Amino acid sequence: MTESISSGKFITVEGIDGCGKTTQAEFIVDGLADAGLSAKLVREPGGDPISESIRKLLLHAEESMSDRAEALLMIASRAQLTDKVILPQIINGSWVVADRYADSTLAYQGGGRGLSVQSLDSINQFGTYTLKPDLTFFIDISIDVANSRMRVERDRIEKEGNEFQQRVREQYLKLHESDPNRFILINGEQSVDNVRKEIWTHIKENFEL
Ligand code: TYD
Repeated sequence: MTESISSGKFITVEGIDGCGKTTQAEFIVDGLADAGLSAKLVREPGGDPISESIRKLLLHAEESMSDRAEALLMIASRAQLTDKVILPQIINGSWVVADRYADSTLAYQGGGRGLSVQSLDSINQFGTYTLKPDLTFFIDISIDVANSRMRVERDRIEKEGNEFQQRVREQYLKLHESDPNRFILINGEQSVDNVRKEIWTHIKENFEL
């Protein structure tokens, strides 16, 4: 879809909590700016006033939330961000870098919560207006490394524990196996700078920068 309407590219960064994706997403935007390309950074859930309201509900709700309500709210937030921010940017020829996107729902609500990945995939298609990332970086770390890096204050989903995070990681690994050219696995246990360099090498190769 992206290609048919413009030259703006869409890159997403994925991984379990504590993998360092936010830092790397910022590096990608900086690298693109150095290459003379305008790029906007967004985060999920959130990235627009309505999506940020949904984020508060998702991450800090006091009441117990049903797994399906959680999945649909993640995708509702994504639909808002896609329609109001991502697609207009891409149509204008700008690049967008997203700190999480549709694959997070497959990994967390599919792998983590045990909802049907196939159903989530269909609802994601509706919520993303069928937009697919041109390239996704999955920054992979073990659960032990994630625990050693995570801040003390955890949100509702970060509090789920090791087995949940392990299921999320396994689902991410499956996504890499089924689509290794788009869903690129990066070893996130290297130094921050080596991760940055490896990601940048892929970006240069893929987009011929
Ligand atoms: P995260 O980007 O890790 O937030 P932080 O700024 O706190 O690092 O995302 C918040 C949480 O939301 C994270 O635990 C993953 C979860 N999440 C899902 O469960 N499903 C989704 O579709 C998305 C986008 C995020």
